[in-house]
Amino acid sequence: MTAPLRTDPSTVTVALGARSYDIVIGRGLIASLGARIAALRPAAKVAIVADENVARYHLAAAEAALADAGIAANRIVVPAGEGSKSFGMFEHVCEAIISARIERGDLVIALGGGVVGDLAGFAAAVVRRGTDYLQVPTTLLAQVDSSVGGKTAIDSTHGKNLIGAFHQPILVVADTATLDTLPERQFRAGYAEVVKYGLLGDAAFFTWLEANWRAVYAGGPAREHAICVSCRAKAAIVQRDERESGERALLNLGHTFGHALEAACGFSDRLLHGEAVAAGMALAFGFSARQGLIPATEAERAIRHLAQVGLPTGLQDIAGELPTVNRLLELMAQDKKVMRGMPTFILARGIGAAFVARGVEADDVRIFLGEKLAGR
Ligand code: GLY
Repeated sequence: MTAPLRTDPSTVTVALGARSYDIVIGRGLIASLGARIAALRPAAKVAIVADENVARYHLAAAEAALADAGIAANRIVVPAGEGSKSFGMFEHVCEAIISARIERGDLVIALGGGVVGDLAGFAAAVVRRGTDYLQVPTTLLAQVDSSVGGKTAIDSTHGKNLIGAFHQPILVVADTATLDTLPERQFRAGYAEVVKYGLLGDAAFFTWLEANWRAVYAGGPAREHAICVSCRAKAAIVQRDERESGERALLNLGHTFGHALEAACGFSDRLLHGEAVAAGMALAFGFSARQGLIPATEAERAIRHLAQVGLPTGLQDIAGELPTVNRLLELMAQDKKVMRGMPTFILARGIGAAFVARGVEADDVRIFLGEKLAGR
């Protein structure tokens, strides 16, 4: 990696008492990994979990940074893709961490995107009944969402992320230079989660994104600003509701509709998670307008920005067959946010004014989605 090392990374603190940690954001930060770990955990040993793709681009740089600080590191490389969030791969990673003699006081590093963060984080949560770990997210989606907040999980045959634990990292190091090697489609999918923070609670940030999204895509200070604002927004919500008993559910804006679409597409490259969230947010705003909660022009504005940046905004943008409306409702009901059989919807009273909607009528959703399916 040839990224110049900036001297002024930004820091966002997730204030959770004894479980507080920093998110450090800046270009070239992988080079500082060894020094940061030596300062936090002198004499710790480390096991780095990465997938094959990330290992090719960033593992050598991470290992060199650790070696420079005299830190011994073992590598655990897993196949790329959601398939690695399986019981089999989870067992493999746990056994590899144990055979690397990672003990209490040592560290696991999750180097990669959401899959590796979830898998390695969950392994760290249970090995020796809890081992400390660092997140080193290398995708935009992981830098603004999945590496922050301590949700870790693997998948069940019944659904995604159904087996997991809350386990906060001790540090998040978001090296924005790692985004240089990200395929544009992956970057765009991660951008959906950035837009989410504007749509759910920060209208001024959404307006800023409308004006500056090209600069965010291009890289540089605008991109770092967007990542910092996103992490600050997430940190603030997680601080108030670490275990999602209330307000944290707002972070699921777009996820109830999106999850059903992602499941309908087999959690495959046909529809990436961030793309499903974008389509889901567009549907949530459209449904909010239909319910009379938000003026149609406001919903159209939200949807227009998602379309403008190249993200899907509904069923019409998903290629290939989609299941019936009843099947889509069934898929929503398999979401882990289901309470007494009914999924939780995050709806909006305006841009930047999302809320947790209880008691949404299944028939209203059925009619709304039925029309969208018919209009494809
Ligand atoms: N990705 C949603 C959350 O962390 O709560």
